[in-house]
Amino acid sequence: MQKTLSILITLFISSTAITGFAAANTDRGAMLANTCLGCHGIDGYRNAYPSYRVPKLGGQHEQYIVVALKGYKNKTRSHPTMLAQAGSMSDDDIKSVAAYFAGQGDLQEGSAKSGSAISRGEKKAAVCTACHGAAGVSMMPNWPILAGQHTDYLIQAMSQYQNGDRSDPVMAGQAAALSEQDIKDLAAYFAAQSGLFTSSD
Ligand code: HEC
Ligand code: HEC
Repeated sequence: MQKTLSILITLFISSTAITGFAAANTDRGAMLANTCLGCHGIDGYRNAYPSYRVPKLGGQHEQYIVVALKGYKNKTRSHPTMLAQAGSMSDDDIKSVAAYFAGQGDLQEGSAKSGSAISRGEKKAAVCTACHGAAGVSMMPNWPILAGQHTDYLIQAMSQYQNGDRSDPVMAGQAAALSEQDIKDLAAYFAAQSGLFTSSD
């Protein structure tokens, strides 16, 4: 009994030594995430104006969250609240908070939806899935997962690449040719796939 206990204690001490650094980062990430959860942790929470749902971060790639936060910070993405949030964070803080949100668990099963916009969107999505992955689950860590994201947020994001409020050379090229109807159909399709979820604390 005594022996088992001491083995357990040794195991505990050595595992804390190894994970100590990661744990410190996770704690920092969790602390920073408190503010974020006020918007990103509430299911269906809306941006005041224009009105669209705050994007889901649960299950999103860690590296892409970093790319997005730096985009607000460097003003290649325009959103006053997110500029205020990201602008005050160091690169290390950005990494810690991204790890916190990305580490919330596996992608979630969506409620299987169908409809005419979704099936039109599926056909139009063939060009997108080269980068955003089959059914919108990107395999590249720095490219966003679109699957399961809110429809109205996807519409907002695509419109911003189109009108230059987000300047990303790759997506500007992709969005340029899309009609308003294409944007709606593509958003309906990607939102209906199993994928991202609203984070919890
Ligand atoms: C007051 C509400 C609010 C708070 C607080 C907030 N966000 Fe946001 N966040 C938003 C909205 C709205 C958007 C969509 C902005 C846009 O249209 O580009 C967004 C976008 C993002 C995106 C881009 C997602 C994507 O798919 O590209 C990331 C990443 C993000 N927020 C992370 C954070 C983090 C991390 C914090 C805390 C440090 C935070 N947010 C705090 C409202 C908020
Ligand atoms: C060549 C690769 C590539 C292709 C093809 C592509 N995308 Fe993207 N997409 C990206 C990258 C990279 C980003 C991140 C840009 C940034 O940093 O804002 C992105 C971002 C997005 C976003 C924003 C996601 C978010 O969470 O804010 C949406 C929406 C999107 N793409 C939709 C599409 C659609 C719809 C198509 C097809 C018409 C498409 N993309 C084709 C690479 C691509």
